[in-house]
Amino acid sequence: MTETPRLFTPMTIRGLTLRNRIVLSPMLTYAAEAGHVTDWHLMHLGKFAVGGCGLVFMESTKVDPRGCTTPRDCGLWKDDFIPGLARITRFVHAQGAPIGLQLGHSGRKARNSLPWEGRAPLASHPGVDHGEEWELVGPSAVASSPAAAVPRALTIPEIQDMVVAWGAAADRADRAGFDVLEVHGAHGYLLHQFLSAGANQRTDRYGGSLENRQRFAVEVVEEVRRHWPAEKPLFFRVSAIDEDGGTIEETVSLCRVLREKGVDVIDCSTGGMTPRSIVDSGKVHGYGYQVPHAERIRAEAAIATMAVGLIIHADQAEAILRQGRADLVAIGREMLHNPNWALDAADKLGLAAPYATLPDAYGYWLEKRAKAGFGGRPSTWQSGIGPGTEEAR
Ligand SMILES: Cc1cc2nc3c(=O)[nH]c(=O)nc-3n(C[C@H](O)[C@H](O)[C@H](O)COP(=O)(O)O)c2cc1C
Repeated sequence: MTETPRLFTPMTIRGLTLRNRIVLSPMLTYAAEAGHVTDWHLMHLGKFAVGGCGLVFMESTKVDPRGCTTPRDCGLWKDDFIPGLARITRFVHAQGAPIGLQLGHSGRKARNSLPWEGRAPLASHPGVDHGEEWELVGPSAVASSPAAAVPRALTIPEIQDMVVAWGAAADRADRAGFDVLEVHGAHGYLLHQFLSAGANQRTDRYGGSLENRQRFAVEVVEEVRRHWPAEKPLFFRVSAIDEDGGTIEETVSLCRVLREKGVDVIDCSTGGMTPRSIVDSGKVHGYGYQVPHAERIRAEAAIATMAVGLIIHADQAEAILRQGRADLVAIGREMLHNPNWALDAADKLGLAAPYATLPDAYGYWLEKRAKAGFGGRPSTWQSGIGPGTEEAR
């Protein structure tokens, strides 16, 4: 018997066992209405659960309406959002997958048009919740680019209120039925802004030294962990390095603290300190370009890591895990291309029963076809089939 691929070895984190190590990376879909999820989210997340992911991540969902990147972001700043989210968690659970939610706040990078509308600072500012004035806030009055508006620096009482908002959103995520929570501490958004010596020019206890710059992120994690059940895993996404002086050494030091505060997995991304999207930098990255950071954080901070970024092929993902460079792999854009990526990987890596995790409505027929031995490979695997090669029936 051949060994089970590492990609399909279950992983237990606290009280949750993932059926495999394939994770849908959190991705904004810009489909919410006044912060509420829509049928789009049900369809979008549902299909990755059906496709066999070990963990499906809901996009960055905001703890404060001011923190929305665009008017179409999802929200969790009030209880009204819970029923819509609970419908999604019930559906994903029914397909046999757990579901995570990423909590976020864009800080000075909030208030933009949609990517396909130019991702430009909005000229008028009706807020996402009910048309309120949409104020840009951040650690300091430092804009993210010459074209961006200057945020207002949060006062210390406002920082403390913000910490409370993260905890309250974590509690709502629990009540909505999510299994995993991720704190978004990357991509130039609010937590990352506090961590950055460039964006954070404060001279109080939230700025200056590395420990002071880490204080807000650590307090957020403490508050989230207080509101998030002990049996449920907590992830934290870092920008391991960035374009404004953020180093891997600083990130490793943060991860060591986060591990002590109850974070279970570090999701290892990079960048975001420029106004451009992290996947729209104009620079073509290579395969697995962020994997070295997942490897280093795993080794030096002694914490489980999730690798992400141009992980495209099943054998590539398998090698990352086998070489001990990460514990989980997150797939973003390639999942948009192929929502059945996990199923496809199971087939290509030779898993004994690749269709076992599919709902009967699909699995029954595909298994039957495989057993009948039609002789080909599924999907777009094979070339050269066409007129002349077809068998007459
Ligand atoms: C459309 C889109 C939306 C994204 N939204 C988020 C998000 O909400 N939170 C986040 O941390 N990263 C977000 N990302 C980044 C992805 O999670 C992922 O890290 C990145 O796309 C690199 O992985 P990939 O090469 O597999 O796509 C987004 C990426 C894309 C393409």
